[in-house]
Amino acid sequence: MLALGCDHGGYGLMQEVKAHLDKRGIEYRDFGTYSAESTDYPIYAKKVCTAITEGECEFGILICGTGIGMSMTANKFKGIRAAVCSDCFSAQATRSHNNANVLCMGERTVGPGLALLITDTFLDTPFSEEERHKRRIAMIED
Ligand code: RB5
Repeated sequence: MLALGCDHGGYGLMQEVKAHLDKRGIEYRDFGTYSAESTDYPIYAKKVCTAITEGECEFGILICGTGIGMSMTANKFKGIRAAVCSDCFSAQATRSHNNANVLCMGERTVGPGLALLITDTFLDTPFSEEERHKRRIAMIED
């Protein structure tokens, strides 16, 4: 199960991402926000990260204007590895090397076409399971 969260700055793009996930038959839980009215991104980052750390969801997607505020909030949670991606190479690498569990994107920095490719790349790339990457990820938590 995928956890989704956005603020007003990411609301429009999140609607596109949800339609895309529906087409792919990927299940998600939408933690809001549910309109384009101004709100505070940490509310939604915290809901999504809690769903992941408590085991309800395995991965998350967070969207705000830039993806940055969402990632700053998400990475304060132990066990969350959130990456802001605005290109497919980063989306592939952060899954393969960092075993990222939260994808953050910015509606004001990536267009919808690219955002959906980034989403697919993130969701379809497995962690490499290589020892050097496991060691480095463990060092993040030290
Ligand atoms: C909202 O204006 C904007 O600051 C927010 O969506 C995000 O970009 C913060 O990092």
